[in-house]
Amino acid sequence: LVASGSGVLTLGVPGTAGVTDGAVADTIVVPYNDLETLDAAIDQFGDEIAAVLVEPVAANMGLVPPAPGFLAGLRERTRTIGALLVFDEVITGFRLGTAGAQGFFDITPDLSMFGKVVGGGLPLAAVAGRADVMDVLAPVGPVYQAGTLSGNPIATAAGLAALRELQPARYDELHATATALADGLRSVFDDAGIAAQIPQVGTLVGLFFTDAPVTDLASSSASDAARYATFFHGMLDRGVFLAPSSYEVLFPGLAHTPDDVERTIAAARAVVETL
Ligand SMILES: Cc1ncc(COP(=O)(O)O)c(C=O)c1O
Repeated sequence: LVASGSGVLTLGVPGTAGVTDGAVADTIVVPYNDLETLDAAIDQFGDEIAAVLVEPVAANMGLVPPAPGFLAGLRERTRTIGALLVFDEVITGFRLGTAGAQGFFDITPDLSMFGKVVGGGLPLAAVAGRADVMDVLAPVGPVYQAGTLSGNPIATAAGLAALRELQPARYDELHATATALADGLRSVFDDAGIAAQIPQVGTLVGLFFTDAPVTDLASSSASDAARYATFFHGMLDRGVFLAPSSYEVLFPGLAHTPDDVERTIAAARAVVETL
């Protein structure tokens, strides 16, 4: 919240009110996919750095895949300086596969945060990690944590039911749907000569109206927001409800059939004629 993603980005504000100067002072914000700037921060702050937190696949500034070597670079540097590597898998967890982004890219963080899929649509979140770090949490350790909905029985039952459905073959289905959607949208924009980037990581798809590859927040922000809005409303008029901003991501689900994907591509083909 010192410099936040999708929700506040869409509203065009850089952070959020109520974050104290102390919280800002304790946080270093480094561009995604930029190990050089991280190295400069490490040179400056060294072992004062307690943890490096990252969405392993950024999905709050649109979909931005990790560059080759980025996650491995984070793993190596955090190990060297004795900092924790924390993966925010709220979006990627159980969506890229049963082992999330850490399984997809074979990089093991020290702590991971989960939300969304883990609750099967009900409010549930989870933190997981190395046993010696987890033991710092109450009731075993001194760090107290609890909440009104912690371990809520209905949410945990829904989460378990969803996770039992998510056998590896279901991810193959999701992946195929995502690939059909991404390939279809790409061909629509290519045929129309419209500059668009459609990144895909496994089951996640992004959509930016820009001619340069999107690698970080700056290149994501180069996406033409007015064009996205026109495209969004054109699609909505044709019965397809996309994510409402290119700072959000398209998530195909198991309910989406090949027919749904075809209808979406056909709608996109009709809408690009109006762009
Ligand atoms: C990547 C990511 N991390 C964290 C959160 C917030 O999670 P929670 O609502 O469990 O605090 C969100 C959005 O809701 C998110 O997209």
